[in-house]
Formats: sequence, C-alpha cells, structure tokens
Amino acid sequence: MKITKLALIIGTTLSLGAVIISSPQPASAKDAKTTRLTFGKITNNNLHRLGTIRQLTRSQIATTHKLTGKQVQALASLPLPRHLTATNFSISDKALTMHLTKNKFKIKRVSIPLSKLKGVILNRYMPKQYKFKTIKTPKKVVALTFDDGPSPTLTPKLLKTLKKYNVPATFFEVGSSVIRYPKVSRMVVKSGNQIGNHSWNHPQLTSLTSTKALHQIALTDAAIYKATGIIPQYVRAPYGAVNSRIGSLFDRPLIQWNVDSRDWAYLNTAKTARHVLATTHNGSIILMHDIHATSVAAVPTIIKTLKKRGYHFVTLEQLNQKPLLADLQYFGRNDYRNP
Ligand code: NI
Repeated sequence: MKITKLALIIGTTLSLGAVIISSPQPASAKDAKTTRLTFGKITNNNLHRLGTIRQLTRSQIATTHKLTGKQVQALASLPLPRHLTATNFSISDKALTMHLTKNKFKIKRVSIPLSKLKGVILNRYMPKQYKFKTIKTPKKVVALTFDDGPSPTLTPKLLKTLKKYNVPATFFEVGSSVIRYPKVSRMVVKSGNQIGNHSWNHPQLTSLTSTKALHQIALTDAAIYKATGIIPQYVRAPYGAVNSRIGSLFDRPLIQWNVDSRDWAYLNTAKTARHVLATTHNGSIILMHDIHATSVAAVPTIIKTLKKRGYHFVTLEQLNQKPLLADLQYFGRNDYRNP
C-alpha cells in the first residue's frame, strides 16, 4: 500500500512538463527557446540551495494561508522535491512556481516571489532586478543572538536596549515558552528583530530519533507561527549539538556561534561583559541568553564598547553577506560547514 502511494508520487513528479524561461506561453518541446530546467541547473547542483527552496515553499504557504498549528506541523511532511534532477517547477519573470504532488493541503501550486530567491537561484536564471549582489557591510561587524526565551520581563527589557542603540538581534526561542508568552514573541518581531527555532523544550536533538527531533522543531514552528504569523527561518540546536543526520532534517540553516558569553555559568554582569569583549572578533556570532537578568544587564556595556571599537551590529544575513542556506552550520562570517 505504502509502496504504491510512493510510486504514484514519484510518477507524478516525473511526468510534469518542461519548463519555459522568459516565455509567457508554454512552448512545445521542439521550440528552440525551450529549456528544460532542473533544480540541479538553477542551483548549480547544490542540495543546500534545493533545501532552502523547499523551506521557502513551506513559508510561502504559511504566509498566504491562515494555517492551524496542526497544519504548520504537517508542513514538514509536505511532498517536496529532494532530487536535483526534479523538474516540477517553472520560473516566470516574477516567481518560481512549485507544482506540488497530491498533498493534505490540497495545494497544487506555490509561487515564491523571486525577490526571496536572490542568491539561492543562480543569477543567470534571474531577471536583472533579482540578480544577487554581495551584501555590502562596514568592515567590522558582529551579530548578537539570544537563546532560551522568551522571558516575560527580561526580553522586553532587552528589546528596549536594542532599540535605544539601534541594534538588531536574533532570538532563538523555545516553543514551550512561546506558548506561555506569545505577546513577547510578537514584540520581538515587531521591533525588527528575528526569531529562530530553538526546539520545544531544549533536548539534545542528536540523542533523539529523527521523528522526535523533527517534532521538536515542528511544534515550535507552530507556536511561533501562531504568535507572530511567520515560520522561523533559522534553527539553533540546543547546546549546538548537531550531526549529519539531525543537520539535514529541517531544511534550514543551523546557527552556531564563535563567541560563547558563558553568561549562564557566570550569572554576573561584569564577568559576562568582560568575557564577551575579550573574545569577540570581526565577524563573530555572539551567544547570550535573555533569560538571565545578569545577561540582559551586560548588553548595554557590550554594545557601547564594541561600537567604540568600530564594530557595527548586523543581522545574520548581513554578517554572511549572502543568504544562509539550508543544512549548513554557521559559526561566523565566512565560517560555515556541513553538519
Ligand atoms: Ni539553549
């Protein structure tokens, strides 16, 4: 029974038609202008780019439909192309359209605006206005990340500090806290910061089965979506514990760090600030926790001192100067590795 179903899905995927570039009308296969595109061609045979496209498809569905928590969780099992030879998509001058096989959502097509695919699809397949150019940044940059929130009192306090100094940050939140304090998660997004997925209740994912690990992330996606209307773009594994099995489950960049404040061990504002300031270098991703008062209290000193040293605070994408890709671990600027 299961095998028959799978065969049906594969059959449908393969039978979908040729893809036309820059042609408003589908042309016949004999047309000289017709090019049959594969994911391999448009991604330069890069599975990280294909994984990114899969996740963008899910996010697009969540943006254009109002989904229930259960539906958000089900996005993880949406049948999406895993092979570079797949051809079930088309590119127009505005969007990449995925032609889906039969699914629970009864969705046949998902159009991802090309503006979201800059740097994911090779430039030669993009209209001029969507061609990717390296993101320019000042010379000295750092990115701040805060884990394990939201906290009902400390996160809002931290948001005020970030606003005061006009500094962006990424918050890796645990789903079990997001359902308790959804308003705080909403404030994080409203104030221009990013939310990442830090699992449901902070287990070491590498010690879980793949089904359980995926469930941790899917439940948290649902909680964050319910609170903010968006599905987090990034995942940070608790303790940074990732292996090749876990690393390829979520179709998202795995954000690590190269400056560990050790704030949870110090629980001391001066020591936390001193440690961060002594270990930060150009391109650092700094790890802190917005669930400790001593950590949040250290942030003004850290920001002021690093600014004095000529650093600019940027988002993770700016730090990397290009989009972060699925199933790669990011430790800092120019430092990404396979899990
Ligand atoms: Ni954590």
